[in-house]
Amino acid sequence: MTEKSLFGTTADGRQVFAYRLSNRNGVSATILDYGCTLQSVCIPLHGKTVDVCLGYDTVREYEQNDGYLGAIVGRYAGRIPKATLKLGEQVYPLCQNDGENHLHGGRIGFDKAIFDAELSEHAVCLSHVSPDGDEGYPAALSVRIVYTLTDDDVLTIRCEGVSNGTTVWNPTSHAYWNLNGHDSGSALDHTLCIPAERYVPTDDALIPLAGEAPVSDTPFDFRIPKTFRNALKTPCAQIRNGFDHSFVLSPGTIGLAGTRGIRIQITTDCKAVQLYTANFLSERIGKGGVRYAPHHAVCLETQSRQIGRDLIVPEESLLSANEMKSHTTAFRFLYR
Ligand code: GAL
Repeated sequence: MTEKSLFGTTADGRQVFAYRLSNRNGVSATILDYGCTLQSVCIPLHGKTVDVCLGYDTVREYEQNDGYLGAIVGRYAGRIPKATLKLGEQVYPLCQNDGENHLHGGRIGFDKAIFDAELSEHAVCLSHVSPDGDEGYPAALSVRIVYTLTDDDVLTIRCEGVSNGTTVWNPTSHAYWNLNGHDSGSALDHTLCIPAERYVPTDDALIPLAGEAPVSDTPFDFRIPKTFRNALKTPCAQIRNGFDHSFVLSPGTIGLAGTRGIRIQITTDCKAVQLYTANFLSERIGKGGVRYAPHHAVCLETQSRQIGRDLIVPEESLLSANEMKSHTTAFRFLYR
């Protein structure tokens, strides 16, 4: 079932709507047309409803706070070093919104756009056109983001892009998961499993150093499930204030489990996932007056491989004129 309701109004007077998808088991997901934001995911557990994703109750908080809570970030998720996009011989200066680098699509990325929405029985399809030159990116880019919730408790997020010229494209969902409930504090006791043999070490500005490195004998080895707390016990210069790194995915399922019986299994056709333990989630008030703070959530941002210091754009995020690219990530919720 899908329902539409008015969520609020932006500072400049535009209406923001909420789309609530629900299934026969009582699982629901609420998506805003503002930023294509996943505002809540509610799971029934022992007669109660647990909201497992961090967010806000008002448009104003989404407009004013940093952190991209639940948004689809883009055009390009992650950092582009020196805010310099190199496509063949052409160099495009992008908006510098993270020191000298470009982050998550710039100052006014997808997370700040109001998408056009279309509802169907189990899905909401959100579309948006980012004009040529938007935040410095070349070519006009049309995106469609489709959220679907099935009766077997799978929430899929499909991202489709087509442009009228050569450009880059790498959106992701920046959902902040806390499977014990968004109001339950630290998520460091969650258990994570990532089928990845390699991760990408970074410098202090979180820009990739020299390519990928093996996970073996590092805290980045999540091939066998472990808690963040345990992983963080192994000393490692790469761990600054938690995890904030890209993993190159092998075939398999990413698993995240809370301590109260809710788990997610994530499958994707993306080549990489950014693991971010909400290190920069400064103290703030979220939904229902709840206090959020660093490490209160885990983001698993499925996306393309990273652009490194050599500025080489991975082929999966290159779009040529009129070519359609897409990727899909499925989140299966398990609870008892
Ligand atoms: C993550 C990124 C972090 C931080 C965060 C937003 O995707 O890896 O470094 O920028 O988004 O606060």
